[in-house]
Amino acid sequence: MQHFLDIHTTAQSELRKIIDSARDIKNARAGRPKGAPDDDQFLAGHMVALIFEKPSTRTRVSFDVGVRQMGGQTMVLSGTDMQLGHGETIADTARVLSRYVDLIMMRTFEEDTLTEMAEYATVPVINGLTNRTHPCQIMADILTFEEHNGPIKGKKVVWSGDGNNVFASFAHAAKQFDFDLVFTGPPPLDPEPALDGLYTIERNPQVAVDGADLVVTDTWVSMHDPQSARERRHNQLRGYQVNKELMDHAKDDALFMHCLPAHRDDEATSEVMDGPHSVIFDEAENRLHAQKAIMRWCLSS
Ligand code: CP
Ligand code: NVA
Repeated sequence: MQHFLDIHTTAQSELRKIIDSARDIKNARAGRPKGAPDDDQFLAGHMVALIFEKPSTRTRVSFDVGVRQMGGQTMVLSGTDMQLGHGETIADTARVLSRYVDLIMMRTFEEDTLTEMAEYATVPVINGLTNRTHPCQIMADILTFEEHNGPIKGKKVVWSGDGNNVFASFAHAAKQFDFDLVFTGPPPLDPEPALDGLYTIERNPQVAVDGADLVVTDTWVSMHDPQSARERRHNQLRGYQVNKELMDHAKDDALFMHCLPAHRDDEATSEVMDGPHSVIFDEAENRLHAQKAIMRWCLSS
């Protein structure tokens, strides 16, 4: 068994295997109803805990549906309802849950919570987003890019906006999947220094997007950011909105991605989100297929 905690802590060859497996899993289900079982019922007899200490639509539903299609069962747990939210240690929670379930997916705040869960769990732990990273999202995004425009290796990816947790996983992926990543955003919202060397900075968004194969953005205020920062961030980021004028600087066949949920007409205009470059709903669908491949990988070796 192995954990899926981050893109930079998973070997390049294993990441590629997961993407290839996700594509096969998706193709094998083409045209079937959402509730139809997968042929091999890989998770038959398995119980999966889905722990959420933050809100979620996509991660929650895609993991739940994925496990059920694979023949397993899920329980969705909110952090505040568990003893974890009332003083029980993460280590004890990990050891207890490992006696009941075969796999744990966790969305939490501090990265240390996830790593401690993984350290003490005797079943695989999957990162469903922390303040620092969101690896399942980027695995779905790589699958989505390659479905539309072929291998991502050597391509130009531009991130416009806040240097947040989703950006961090893109930065890890840039190294592992060998693509060029450009960050464009205001200096106060630069990515954390630990990511230095994985991307380049271009402060002018139009120059940054010139010749891009993929333009990506995300919400300007993440779930772990104080709401008091909202107005300041909007002022800092307004010039980095992804609109048609900006997309016109990218390649003709460039893709536009956003992990969602989006604040329409803030970080990206509806014209772009619903326009010809946008693959935002394919990204959302591909969470399902990518995570099924991740769960198989976790339990396979
Ligand atoms: N993209 C994503 O992780 O969405 P949710 O917050 O809805 O899970
Ligand atoms: N950066 C966002 C991603 C949500 C899926 C957040 O952390 O809130």
